[in-house]
Parts: sequence; structure tokens; C-alpha cells
Amino acid sequence: MSIPSFGVGTFRLTGQTVIDSVRNALDVGYRAVDTAQIYGNEAEVGTAIAQSGVPRADLFITTKIWTENYAKPKLVASLRESLQKLRTEYVDLTLIHWPAPGNGVQLAEYMAALAEAKALGLTRQIGISNFNIELTKQAIAAVGPGEIATNQIELSPYLQNPKLTAYLKEQGIAVTSYMTLAYGKVLQDPVLTRIAAKHQATVAQVALAWALQLGYAVIPSSTKRENLASNLLARELRLDADDMAQIAALERNGREVSPAGLAPVWD
Ligand SMILES: NC(=O)c1ccc[n+]([C@@H]2O[C@H](COP(=O)([O-])OP(=O)(O)OC[C@H]3O[C@@H](n4cnc5c(N)ncnc54)[C@H](OP(=O)(O)O)[C@@H]3O)[C@@H](O)[C@H]2O)c1
Repeated sequence: MSIPSFGVGTFRLTGQTVIDSVRNALDVGYRAVDTAQIYGNEAEVGTAIAQSGVPRADLFITTKIWTENYAKPKLVASLRESLQKLRTEYVDLTLIHWPAPGNGVQLAEYMAALAEAKALGLTRQIGISNFNIELTKQAIAAVGPGEIATNQIELSPYLQNPKLTAYLKEQGIAVTSYMTLAYGKVLQDPVLTRIAAKHQATVAQVALAWALQLGYAVIPSSTKRENLASNLLARELRLDADDMAQIAALERNGREVSPAGLAPVWD
């Protein structure tokens, strides 16, 4: 079991926009799709997958449990609803979307419910998202070592998360980088622009190749077929040690997402 290194994201995309985005992504060669209960687009993602004709076994579908479904009696039922919307009997990966400390459900309870969903065959793998080191430790303690496939975290050239990624590596937990393009912000960066020109690549490809070369999975989103296609070609771009060092120096704790009540204290 492992996490595919390249998938397509669907945050903010709804209705026909998300159907078109996922269909285009599958058409140009993506096989992993990242959605979430809170995105309100699981049914449309399901439609796009059904229309694509790509066999289920070739796909890797990730969804995330929303905070209102963390209580033990709710979590499994909510995942069954997600499966119905996605028109599938199982998802490949289910994540706890945010640690949401203080929402009334203890971490040990929702992690146990997530493990139960896996035992029931509703999800092939389980994981976490937006967890800091301390909460990742607690999650490992709740479900046992080797059970958590990934921690999906905000990570871009402007927010490199050195402490957390080092810890995850040590634990054998895959890092999934979300908002690798910082929702477009890094695309104007002069250093990335110079590196892109040197390789005759796009700036987006440089940011994605940087994350891939560090061993992270990426899930960039786009409403445009040409961006979806060119982003995927980041897999073929090889950055050299000098490029990687220059990108490492772009760190600026540039966090875009930290919702009150959901986010932990960041490392
Ligand atoms: N676990 C979590 O809490 C969490 C939080 C946020 C996101 N995520 C996941 O991570 C995914 C990615 O994050 P994101 O969608 O917020 O941000 P992102 O992938 O960093 O950036 C997407 C933005 O970049 C633009 N873009 C993409 N490729 C481009 C290219 N080649 N050239 C120019 N612009 C380009 C897109 O615009 P166009 O449409 O114009 O191409 C879109 O506005 C989400 O969709 C979601 O699945 C998870």
C-alpha cells in the first residue's frame, strides 16, 4: 500500500466546474482524485469518474471526514454516504480533515472510528490532515504504528514545514503537500521563474517537481485542461542541487490556511 505521488485536487470546485476538471484530469492521465465531505462535490466527482470510463481498480480516490462526523456513531455512517455519492464501494484513502481540538470528540475516539471504517472495508487506507507533530503522535498511539498512510498538510516553497516533515519521514508516514502552488501565489516568484526559464518549464512545474523530489505527494487543482496536463509533466522535470537549494531558501512561513477552531498549534 502506498500513496500515489500525483493527484488532482478539487477544493472550491463544484457543479459542472468540478465535473469538467476531474474529467479533464482523468483524460490527460491523472488516476488519483482528492475530495472531501466539506467540499460538497463528492457526487459530482462520482459523476465525472463514472463518465470517464476509467476502471475503478485503476483509480485512487481520497475523501476526508468533516468535523461534524467525528463522533463514533457518525463517522462510519458519513463515510457510507460519501461512498454512495462517489458511486463506489470503497475509497482508497480516508483522512481526518482537521484535528479540530475542542470540538467535543476526543482524538482517540475519531481515530478508532476511522480504523473501524478500514476494518469494514469502506476505505483501503487511513490518514490524517493538518496534524502537528504532537497530534500525529497521539494518532499513531490510537491506531498503532504503520496504520497512518499520510499526513496531508499545507506545504509549498513558501511553507516548507521542516520539523513536521522530518518527523513524518522518521515515522514512515507519507507527506502529501496541499496547496503546493500556494493557491497560485508562488507562480509569480522571481527565483522560481528563473529556474523555470533555465529548464524551459513552467513555474508550476518547478514548484511541483521540487515537492516530488523531496518525496512528497502533490494534488494541485486546476479548472483548465492545459494546466492540468502541464502540471502532470512536472514528473519529468529534474531539478539540480542548486535549484533545490535556491528553492529551500524561499521558506517564509507563508501559511495560507489556519482556520480558528480547526487548526492545531503549528510546529
Ligand atoms: N486537507 C486540507 O485541509 C486541504 C486544504 C486545501 C487544499 N486541499 C487539497 O489540495 C488541493 C490543492 O490546493 P488548492 O486547489 O487550494 O491550491 P493549489 O493547487 O496550490 O492552486 C490551485 C490554483 O492554482 C492555479 N493553477 C494550477 N495550475 C496552474 C498552472 N499550471 N498555471 C497557472 N495557474 C495554475 C489554479 O487556477 P486555474 O484553475 O486557473 O488553473 C488554482 O487557482 C485542493 O484542491 C484540495 O484537494 C486540502
